[in-house]
Amino acid sequence: MTRFVLPGLVDIHVHLRQPGGGHKEDVLSGTTAALAGGMTLVLDMPNTQPPTITPDALERKRRLFEASAVCDYGFFAGYMGGALEPLLAMAPQTVGLKLYLDETFGDMTLDRGRSLEQVFEAWPGPGPIAVHGEAPTVERVLALGQRYEQALHVCHVPHPDVLLAIDRARQAGALVTCEVTPHHLFLSTDDLATLGPFGIMKPALLAPDLVQRFWERLDLVDAIASDHAPHTVAEKEWQRNGIAQPPPGVPGLETTLPLMLRAVDEGRLTQERLVKLLHDNPLRIYGLAPDPSTLVAVELGEAYRLPFGGYHTRCGWSPFVDKWALGQVVEVTLHGQVVWREGRRLAAAGSGREVQRAA
Ligand code: DOR
Ligand code: ZN
Ligand code: ZN
Repeated sequence: MTRFVLPGLVDIHVHLRQPGGGHKEDVLSGTTAALAGGMTLVLDMPNTQPPTITPDALERKRRLFEASAVCDYGFFAGYMGGALEPLLAMAPQTVGLKLYLDETFGDMTLDRGRSLEQVFEAWPGPGPIAVHGEAPTVERVLALGQRYEQALHVCHVPHPDVLLAIDRARQAGALVTCEVTPHHLFLSTDDLATLGPFGIMKPALLAPDLVQRFWERLDLVDAIASDHAPHTVAEKEWQRNGIAQPPPGVPGLETTLPLMLRAVDEGRLTQERLVKLLHDNPLRIYGLAPDPSTLVAVELGEAYRLPFGGYHTRCGWSPFVDKWALGQVVEVTLHGQVVWREGRRLAAAGSGREVQRAA
């Protein structure tokens, strides 16, 4: 059996749901899922309850992570509209600003009356402005990043043609990076018949020919990020019960690496490129320092099909049911300490650290 060691992987887009959504995921279950998936650092999104839009809310979230996280973590500042002072106060303690420019889970979409220009002008960094948006919105915002000389990060690229627009913006001198999710690479609208509400997320799954184009344009992608967005099975099945629309979002912390290792095995990308997409570039985008004593040992074995259940995430399911995967995370070392071995967490709750920006 082939065994090899990778640097600790980095998931720059996760929703760990605390405070306010601990029944879907909490800091301990979410960071445990991260270790199980070979992720040693996660960046947590601000659409919690309350949302991370004030220094107080950030501090409250930080205390939850300090008590429970078992991998490293960083926080995004959120902004929905109104006074800019709370945002400016949070900026230095965050990895970046997250803006929801189109519909999302919850009510964090930026106030339509708010001038995006003013936000782009005011954000002091040092992290980038990360945006959630559908294709037309993202294409509009690319120009803003350049006008205000802000580093812009496009979350979960919603369409492969957006990669071409990002490429053009870069050629014109814009500082723009982007991430693509595994669900946009390994699932398509063809899977919706079997997945039903478990295949609903924003941005939505695309037709198989568009998925193919993502793969053809993978050279234009900086990072793979899961957009781990757990909702319970009962919540997802609301629609079946005729009550409401299912909440959008799918978990992904534990499936990114095995799906991508299978893609490497199939020759769709090299292992060096995989490490760029899941380690080097994620750290570079958010200005974070690598740690050579943080490592993930993987055993390859035979390819297998992913199950629907049996994960560490509290929501307990995966949309990648029956998709081919390869490899098992057998050991994770975080800052020189073995924190995960053969399916068991060895790290104590609260042993994860908040990230530091690179010097
Ligand atoms: O599908 C999604 N789920 N898209 C988002 O933007 C938010 C996320 C969530 O928080 O559930
Ligand atoms: Zn989003
Ligand atoms: Zn998200």
